[in-house]
Amino acid sequence: MKISIVGAGHVGLVTGACFAESGHQVLCVDNDMEKLAPLQKGKIPFYEPGLERLVRKHLKTGRLSFSPSIQEGVRKSGVVFIAVGTPSRPSGEADLSYVEVVSREIAHAMTTYRLIVEKSTVPVETGEWVRRTIRHSLRRKIPFDVASNPEFLREGQAVKDFLQPDRVVIGVESKKAEKILLEVYRPLKTPIVVTDIKSAEIIKHASNSFLSMKISFINAIATLSEKVGADVVKIAEGVGMDKRIGKSFLNAGVGFGGSCFGKDLAAFINIASKAGVDFQLLKEVQRINQHQREGVVRKIEQAVWNLRGKTIGILGLSFKPDTDDLRDAPAIDIIRALQKEGVKVKATDPAAMENAKKFLTGVTFCANAYEVARGVDCLVILTEWRVFKQLHLRKLKSLMAHPVLVDGRNLFDPERMRRLGFRYFSMGRPAISS
Ligand SMILES: NC(=O)c1ccc[n+]([C@@H]2O[C@H](COP(=O)([O-])OP(=O)(O)OC[C@H]3O[C@@H](n4cnc5c(N)ncnc54)[C@H](O)[C@@H]3O)[C@@H](O)[C@H]2O)c1
Repeated sequence: MKISIVGAGHVGLVTGACFAESGHQVLCVDNDMEKLAPLQKGKIPFYEPGLERLVRKHLKTGRLSFSPSIQEGVRKSGVVFIAVGTPSRPSGEADLSYVEVVSREIAHAMTTYRLIVEKSTVPVETGEWVRRTIRHSLRRKIPFDVASNPEFLREGQAVKDFLQPDRVVIGVESKKAEKILLEVYRPLKTPIVVTDIKSAEIIKHASNSFLSMKISFINAIATLSEKVGADVVKIAEGVGMDKRIGKSFLNAGVGFGGSCFGKDLAAFINIASKAGVDFQLLKEVQRINQHQREGVVRKIEQAVWNLRGKTIGILGLSFKPDTDDLRDAPAIDIIRALQKEGVKVKATDPAAMENAKKFLTGVTFCANAYEVARGVDCLVILTEWRVFKQLHLRKLKSLMAHPVLVDGRNLFDPERMRRLGFRYFSMGRPAISS
């Protein structure tokens, strides 16, 4: 099939490369020339395992190409996916101005039937707005359909998530649109939920809100565990083995971040409020998450006594492993809070350091964890990168001024840390001092 995707970011580029892998002919459109020029040479603008290989492969097969022109995309394809950003406004509401601009441009370029598919995460009823905008922007009466096809990929494993999803959701209002989208996804051989557009839009927000709720739930249990001397890791194991609950998203830590959970939660609360529903449950999820970040700073203070004048080493900046994405990363808030309290910060991250230099000032960036450890009063783990799990802990300790480790991701066994001579503070488990 001939498909174009407007917006070649984390979602659009993965979608484009994976559709090409599925055998479709794909054109990715982006108006950011700084991204587009390297993409045309097979160089991807962010860190995502396996993606560059796929992009290069299909530039070669000729099934994937790039263009700055929406007009070209619409001319060459029967299906046009919209995958532009939908960032948060200060009110929490999603900013849909990019979606609107793109919808208009698509309409201006249309001459015959097209299926326009929302891939971006959008509030319920956006499909209706897209339809209205296209209808009013068409130069003459042309048949078209709008559909919703929310994306559930996770950064860091986006290619795998796209090619082997748990399910695909499509929201349609005509048999024709349904048939086209079923054909687009047929090569994936995955369960497909077909529904109306509004329900599909809500499925995405409900899914992300539920996952955020699981994380805040276990973090609340972690807070209780610390107060009473219980172990949240064991609790999560015991709770998560119940198939009705499931093990995933029950890791206590510094809270969720990234470009989606916080934004989508705020948007969903806003949508509900506009519909007259006060979604208190989700407001509490937000509150707990914010509290987690502040709690880490207090935990570091508890570990080193006075923060002022101390040197703290941070291991991990990205909001999760295997990505260089720093959007709403807890590390950024935590580092800024520490700096406000007069702390000198050293930091490292396997992928996100170049990005971090744009956001953070006054931080000494180091090539690896051992360089960070040299002379610090305390080390703090904020992202569960595999290289940190594999650290040579004796060597690490020998480099530090004081062997104090605050583990925001529960990477190590507290008893082992005690035997190695660390003062070890983790999340939702009793603090251990040697
Ligand atoms: N990042 C994720 O993990 C993820 C997962 C699922 C869903 N989503 C949703 O997908 C959407 C896109 O997210 P993203 O992370 O890919 O964003 P992104 O910022 O990485 O990419 C958006 C792209 O759209 C381009 N763009 C903006 N306006 C344009 C225009 N008028 N014409 C052409 N290109 C234009 C930008 O240049 C950018 O490259 C959002 O709604 C997001 O919530 C993201």
